[in-house]
Amino acid sequence: MCSLWRGSLLTLTSSLNRRVFQCCRQFGRSYNIASCMPEAVAFQGVSDHSGLYKFSVNESDRFWGAVARQRLSWISPFHTVQNCDFSQGKIKWFEGGKLNVSVNCLDRHVHTCPERVALIWERDEPGTEVKITYRQLLELTCRLGNLLKRQGVRRGDCVTIYMPPCPLAVASMLACARIGAAHNVVFAGFSSEALADRIRDAQSSTVITVNQGVRGGKVVDLKRTVDQAVQNCPSVQQVLVAMRTENTVAMTDRDVPLEEEMMKEDVVCEPVAMDSEDVLFLLYTSGSTGKPKGLVHTQAGYLLYTSLTHRYVFNYHDGDVFGCVADIGWITGHSYIVYGALCNGGTTVLFESTPVYPNPGRYWEMVERLEINQFYGAPTAIRLLLKYGDEWVQNYNRSSLKTLGSVGEPINTEAWEWYHRVVGDGRCPVVDTWWQTETGGICIAPRPADPEAEIVPGMAMRPFYGIKPALLDTEVVTGDGVSNDSTGALCISQAWPGMARTIHNHHQRFTETYFQPYPGFFFTGDGAHRSKEGYYQIVGRLDDVINVSGHRLGTAELEDVVNQCPAVAESAAIGYSHDIKGEGECLPKTRSGKIMRRVLRKVVERNTDELGDLSTLDDPDSVHEVIRGHRRLR
Ligand code: PRX
Repeated sequence: MCSLWRGSLLTLTSSLNRRVFQCCRQFGRSYNIASCMPEAVAFQGVSDHSGLYKFSVNESDRFWGAVARQRLSWISPFHTVQNCDFSQGKIKWFEGGKLNVSVNCLDRHVHTCPERVALIWERDEPGTEVKITYRQLLELTCRLGNLLKRQGVRRGDCVTIYMPPCPLAVASMLACARIGAAHNVVFAGFSSEALADRIRDAQSSTVITVNQGVRGGKVVDLKRTVDQAVQNCPSVQQVLVAMRTENTVAMTDRDVPLEEEMMKEDVVCEPVAMDSEDVLFLLYTSGSTGKPKGLVHTQAGYLLYTSLTHRYVFNYHDGDVFGCVADIGWITGHSYIVYGALCNGGTTVLFESTPVYPNPGRYWEMVERLEINQFYGAPTAIRLLLKYGDEWVQNYNRSSLKTLGSVGEPINTEAWEWYHRVVGDGRCPVVDTWWQTETGGICIAPRPADPEAEIVPGMAMRPFYGIKPALLDTEVVTGDGVSNDSTGALCISQAWPGMARTIHNHHQRFTETYFQPYPGFFFTGDGAHRSKEGYYQIVGRLDDVINVSGHRLGTAELEDVVNQCPAVAESAAIGYSHDIKGEGECLPKTRSGKIMRRVLRKVVERNTDELGDLSTLDDPDSVHEVIRGHRRLR
């Protein structure tokens, strides 16, 4: 355990500072603390879930207006619930309203329950978890917010965060929200090139990182990756470096020791009153063509939608421990580890490790130790663990579990059944949640909060409140998209508050990608089937996006890299079905996601006896795939 890291966190959060409370009291008084959604609409005379769903789509303004007033704390009220026009890709919610997302996620909970645990940092070594209360997280966030301001970060700037899941990563996101800056979290497994691309596109002057990451018992030099990346990013003026391990790393004039400088800052940071439609964050994701796109999410609608889905899809209640094992670098981490969970005053787990470290019982040992109530993971991991056998699960007490969630890719029936029968002992609903970076939050899911809801294995089932799906013909729009027992392109016919607003600097690409293929509809890029009963099953991507282990990869991006190899004239990347990963892509990559070009070169030069050291490859078998593929091409 890194004493420096632990020590600095504890010192930072040890003193109960009066001024934090003064600040919170001030906010607590003026805000309407959230209460639950059915109450918000009960006065409309709607009581059951199906009636509520119909109300949410037919009376969208009244539904979302009531829920937004009830669940969020506003500095000034909004005057217009929605102002959306799909033909221009215009999506605006809660105009006129002002709020601060970090106040919604922190201050109001500090006001009511300061000592409630906000974050459980499940570090790589089992049994070394660190708990951070709401009071402590607010203090960290304020100090960081003040530090960012001292470093010259202003409202409207975009800060890039390249960190593994840890409390300071969450505090960095919330600190940006507090001072009105946007964040751009880049998954800390991405290569320096991928990081540089994203920093450049976001034009960040500030990057926040850690000296090293620790994952699966291995130390990863994240600061070194940042150093390489920023060499090609003229916008970067400073890199804030937190110490995850005790190992020192080379620091330059540009680098700022994060904990040391935070300690000098005040624990009160005045939250900025943000407009509902100001940018909260950019998150890059792969499309079927071109470079990854920086999807833009804004303040109020996104927060409302993630909080509502977190509460109702997972049946989350006060006091529950929510265990989502995604990385904060993906939308799942943003929406459910951070914003949805914290907006609801939840206790949320930050998982730093892997499903098989130190052994394949890791998830379930963690469930027992942390008494996790909702477990949310990816089918890839479930398929992998299934192969190790039931004992790894049954060795641990999982009686705390109430809901099991799945996300990122289709879950096959075998994996679904195993998850339900073995992990959940047949008593926990499995919620297969369909959504995307673009949708901001879950759009189709079984909704266990409805006690009557039937759940069919492997089906995402029903649209969430306010979501009106339509299945359209893959070539041209035919019919109204409402008949059952049909298959088609999955579209959504009316706006919802959580959807992305644009692609950073490329609004035209936004409208072309999502609104022009089926005029009047938002096109998801996925195909789906709707059963006779009206339940949805996701079929998969209709475009050239490959889904490997629930991670999106664009074929164009892969080809771009392969084409850089001097011996390659043309290339075509395709996905092929893979037992565990869903789809495979044959490129030899290191565990940090870097493609080993020297291996490709040797294969193309037919020099396969001299491939060199392959020990850092994530999947050494991928090299054999490439060799076999190359032989076939010859
Ligand atoms: O193809 C769908 C698949 O993942 C894509 C979205 O990827 P991303 O933006 O990275 O977000 C992943 C986490 C929300 C979708 O277009 N996908 C996501 N969830 C499911 C799914 N495919 C089938 N079933 C799901 N539950």
